[in-house]
Amino acid sequence: MALQPEIEKALNDQITAEFASSYAYLGMAAFLEAESLPGMAQWMRTQSQEEWTHGMKIYQFVLDRDGRVALGELGAAATEYESPLAVFEAAAAHERKITGLINDLYAKATEARDFASLPLLDWFVAEQVEEEAAVNQIVDDLRRAGGEGHTILMLDREMAARTTVPAEPGA
Ligand SMILES: [Fe+2]
Ligand SMILES: [Fe+2]
Repeated sequence: MALQPEIEKALNDQITAEFASSYAYLGMAAFLEAESLPGMAQWMRTQSQEEWTHGMKIYQFVLDRDGRVALGELGAAATEYESPLAVFEAAAAHERKITGLINDLYAKATEARDFASLPLLDWFVAEQVEEEAAVNQIVDDLRRAGGEGHTILMLDREMAARTTVPAEPGA
């Protein structure tokens, strides 16, 4: 079944939102790197790459459905924050916002009986649970650390381990 115009638009808006996430996280990574937290910067760069793959996943889906891709504006991304904690709090708030967008998209697709979109959107629903949990854990760790330099350094070194992007398009 061909894509209905409102579903095509909603999918395109989500492509832009995923690329905007990628851009936002790249800005956060730049701040963390400048603050001499290379592990956290590495984690955030990987997050940025993962968001890119999310955008591409929907991009490919729109094309596979014989739709037309439209790429919206990204706007500037912040590269200055008050603290590493403020960065991860902003990332957590951002993921909650994205979860809301995915839920709205799911509701729209269901209402329009665009059932072909649902397996893709199921993947995104599950992905958002993981993403929110991961970033909330980091926020909790940083809050627990307070300003304690040694603990923050330890967290930074641990977070350097994240170097792969598991969510390749089509997976
Ligand atoms: Fe995403
Ligand atoms: Fe995300």
